[in-house]
Amino acid sequence: MSSFSAHNIRFPDGTVTMPSQDHLLSDVPWCQGAKRVLTLLYGNEIRGKQIADLGCLEGGYALEFARMGFDSLGIEVRQSNIDNCLEVKRRAGLANLDFVKDDVWNIAKYGPFDVIYCCGLLYHLDRPREFVKLMGQQARDAIIVNTHFAPWDWYPTSEFQLSKIERHEDLPGRWFLEHDATNDTEREKLKWASWDNKRSFWPTKEALLESIREAGFDLVFEQFDVLGNILANGTSDATMRNHRGVFVGIRTSALQGRGASASQVSPLGS
Ligand SMILES: C[S@@+](CC[C@H](N)C(=O)[O-])C[C@H]1O[C@@H](n2cnc3c(N)ncnc32)[C@H](O)[C@@H]1O
Repeated sequence: MSSFSAHNIRFPDGTVTMPSQDHLLSDVPWCQGAKRVLTLLYGNEIRGKQIADLGCLEGGYALEFARMGFDSLGIEVRQSNIDNCLEVKRRAGLANLDFVKDDVWNIAKYGPFDVIYCCGLLYHLDRPREFVKLMGQQARDAIIVNTHFAPWDWYPTSEFQLSKIERHEDLPGRWFLEHDATNDTEREKLKWASWDNKRSFWPTKEALLESIREAGFDLVFEQFDVLGNILANGTSDATMRNHRGVFVGIRTSALQGRGASASQVSPLGS
């Protein structure tokens, strides 16, 4: 097992994966926001539902979904990351948590799922429209996509070096250079990066939302509660520079009569 790079996880014996961090992954707003959507979808009928966590890194989100009661499968392409995931599985002791080492483009080998969680992955792919379509084929009820998108206007201090607006897959967006690795040893070391493709395409927000709609989800929205104070944080310099959001697609037909009542949904900040 190599050291953990991002997911601070607490196990039943009280130990954590990143003792130097002052917070757990389970406390971060993105994780809590995903749980709110999942609770909205299924209320107390989560058991037996299947969720996939794509590009799961060290498995922290997949673990949280298993703790909620989902049959949770993390898919991760890098050996060092999957080694950490398997360590998480062993120490968490949950039978409903699993991991596979594979490229997410092979998701159909493992699906379909009720929900697909796609966090920090779509902006590492070079064919996002095709991938959202694939998620639409592999998710019965919903997808939660946490991703960077391309800004229309160039914010003066953007965190990323992106191309000018171009069209790709017939969508407007910008290209992002990932890496120049020439062999497996090199790309294995880039723990958070893309795998096969050396550059990624980031659609604009509207193009991304439309890709989700065309993939078969009739309820499509951006989830703002993950920001906490939406006015303050939504207009902050950090947010403007980061151009990232959480985008949700739900097939309402799959949910008739089994949505949660409002009281079952965890309140903001809890
Ligand atoms: C920025 S990290 C995000 C990790 C995690 N989902 C999170 O949000 O904390 C991107 C992850 O996706 C994985 N990844 C990138 N391309 C992949 C692919 N084609 N198939 C599977 N995993 C991939 C990387 O190895 C890395 O673990």
